[in-house]
Amino acid sequence: MGIEYRRARPEDLPQTTSVFAIAIDDLNKKHGFFEEPTSTSPPNPQYAFWLEKEPASFWVAEDDHTIVGYSFSFLRGTLWFLADLFILPAYQGRGIGKTLIQRTLGSWRGRRIANRTLITPAFNRSSVSLYMRFGMLPRQPLYFAASPRESVAESLGSRGAGETLEVEEREDIQPIFSRLSQIHKLSLGFPPGWHNEFFSQVQRARCLLFKRNNRLEGYAFFRRNGRVGPLVVRSASSFRRALEATLRFATEQQQSKELTIVFAGTNEEAALAGIRHGFRIKYPLLFLSSKPMGDWDNYLFYSPGLM
Ligand SMILES: CC(C)(COP(=O)(O)OP(=O)(O)OC[C@H]1O[C@@H](n2cnc3c(N)ncnc32)[C@H](O)[C@@H]1OP(=O)(O)O)[C@@H](O)C(=O)NCCC(=O)NCCS
Repeated sequence: MGIEYRRARPEDLPQTTSVFAIAIDDLNKKHGFFEEPTSTSPPNPQYAFWLEKEPASFWVAEDDHTIVGYSFSFLRGTLWFLADLFILPAYQGRGIGKTLIQRTLGSWRGRRIANRTLITPAFNRSSVSLYMRFGMLPRQPLYFAASPRESVAESLGSRGAGETLEVEEREDIQPIFSRLSQIHKLSLGFPPGWHNEFFSQVQRARCLLFKRNNRLEGYAFFRRNGRVGPLVVRSASSFRRALEATLRFATEQQQSKELTIVFAGTNEEAALAGIRHGFRIKYPLLFLSSKPMGDWDNYLFYSPGLM
């Protein structure tokens, strides 16, 4: 029997989680990026959330009742994003990745797609080549970077966020989802969809609001484990202050050893702040899209799967 393709079901999630861990660990080992085995328990809650929100575009490839690959994508306005595509090493190079892209893209048939996008490890020849064949071209280098929490605290010193930017933590952001969505759309050209619900309600990420002259200028998330992002501001001129304010809040969380960010290589303020606060690049990523796309000077990315 050949490979079967079907939509994912809740009971598939432990297996998709382990396909992810095996495929990413294998890739990282082959390229010298492996540090420790990717944990599979508890499973990343993003899979259950994806399946609940977008069951039609979550696909698995099965060989004799064993899941050997999966794909998932979402649409934000007219922007399509391939969030995940992973195939077990023993099954790679047999056309499964190609078919899974076609299936998850095909799930959006009938909806207008103006741009197709994704983020992949920059050093993965086969994924970059495969995506290029689908018309998605490398547009932007991204970097996952880390800095010890205490170094960041020290380099931030006692400087405030700056007179022109007020910063306030907001505990319950559900009532303001639509305002956050407006800023996101204004800043990046597409809405955040259910992302903010995932960050605040599933991850329990903390949220900061930035205001300038009493007007909402942007927002950012940070987590107990030191992971900062996404951060969105209306104007790139607020980026540095917003980022440093978020890093300051994140450094006050004693339980994290290090802070981590994902920034666009062409975002000068992000790159300079990274250098200033001791961040070291740990993992190079690449943003690909079928059409040239915006500048990223007012955005700090979060992850390859959620942008
Ligand atoms: C990347 C990945 C999803 C691709 O899936 P796959 O099932 O192996 O891919 P396919 O067999 O459908 O297609 C691979 C294509 O890339 C081509 N390819 C592979 N390596 C290549 C290279 N170095 N240069 C050019 N083309 C290459 C293959 O020839 C094939 O194209 P073809 O069918 O036209 O010949 C899979 O290898 C994987 O899971 N890798 C590890 C995890 C990962 O990086 N995932 C992507 C995260 S965004």
